[in-house]
Amino acid sequence: MDVSRLIDEAIIARTMAYAPYSKFKVGCAILLKNGKVIRGCNIENKSYGLTNCAERTALFKMISEGITKYDVEALCIVGDTKEPITPCGACREVMAELLLPDTLIYLANMERDTLEIKVSDLLPLSFKLEN
Ligand code: THU
Repeated sequence: MDVSRLIDEAIIARTMAYAPYSKFKVGCAILLKNGKVIRGCNIENKSYGLTNCAERTALFKMISEGITKYDVEALCIVGDTKEPITPCGACREVMAELLLPDTLIYLANMERDTLEIKVSDLLPLSFKLEN
């Protein structure tokens, strides 16, 4: 898999971020098994709690286009952080719901420092309905 291309796509997605309040821009790219890419960025609101993170934007775009977890090769998130960006708890729940446990997530920063992690390792001991 071309991780470098995926990081490029997330960096492009980040340029679309609407973050006038935090000024912290985040980009996300979902690589599909057919080679297509779905991009997402964070979208803030003056009612702060309505903010949508980049990962959720990309994942909600994916679902709304009829694309499912079985079509996903990998997902990448990028922000201007010292270490590779780490997603918030809400996004971890959404990734655990909408992606397969073994799907690879690439956390990156603008220097392209990258951390590879599986969805299942992002949210250990998560709430399960079957419990
Ligand atoms: N944010 C994301 O989009 N993804 C993350 O993984 C971390 C945080 C956004 C939310 C908000 O617009 C800004 O970054 C600051 O928290």
